[in-house]
Amino acid sequence: MIKKHIAIFASGNGSNFEAIARACAKNRVNAVVALLVCDNPNAFVIQRAKKFDIPVFEFQPKNYASKADYETEIVQILKKHNVDLICLAGYMRLVSDVLLNEYEGKIINIHPSLLPAFKGLNAIQQAFEYGVKLTGVTTHFVDKTMDGGTIIGQVAVPIGNCTLEELETHIHAVEHELYINTINKIINYENIT
Ligand code: GRF
Repeated sequence: MIKKHIAIFASGNGSNFEAIARACAKNRVNAVVALLVCDNPNAFVIQRAKKFDIPVFEFQPKNYASKADYETEIVQILKKHNVDLICLAGYMRLVSDVLLNEYEGKIINIHPSLLPAFKGLNAIQQAFEYGVKLTGVTTHFVDKTMDGGTIIGQVAVPIGNCTLEELETHIHAVEHELYINTINKIINYENIT
C-alpha cells in the first residue's frame, strides 16, 4: 500500500510531532510526515523536524495581509508535497475556509481534555483546577471553531491524587498514543483518498 503523506501543523514544543514522525519512521503508521507547517520561527518543533529531515514551511502571519493569503500559500505547498492528511498538533490558530474547503474531512486535531469540556488554552490546568475526577484526550475533525468538529477518539484519564505536573506528563503520553491510533484508523479505513 502506498504511504500517505501527512503534514503536521505546530506552533511550539512539538512532542506530538515527534511521536508521529517516529511512528511513521518505524512503520507503526503507513505514512510519511512530508511537511511541518510552523507559524513560529522560534518553535522547538523546528529543531525536531530537522532531526528527522522533514521539510519545514515556516511563516509569520504578520507578514501577510490576511489569513486567507497565508493559507492560500500553505495550500500550494501542501499540494507540492502531495499531502493527504493534515494533523494539527499544538497549532495555535483557527483554520479558515481556504484550508477547510481544499482539505475537507482531512484535517484533524488533538486536544488535552474530554471535549466538549475545557476547550482552549491550558486545558489540562483548567480541568485540574475545576476539580473534575476524570479528564483525558480527544482527537477530532477540524471545523472553523476552536476545538470543535466531530470527535474521532477519546481516552479518559483519572486525576486521582496527581499533581498538575504529573497529570500533564500522563496526558501527553496518552496524547501520543491516541494520535497515532487515530491516524492509523483514518488511513486504514481509507477515509482519505
Ligand atoms: C498538546 O497538549 C495538544 O493536545 C495541544 O497542544 C499541545 C501541543 O503539545 N493541542 P506538543 O507541542 O505536541 O508537545
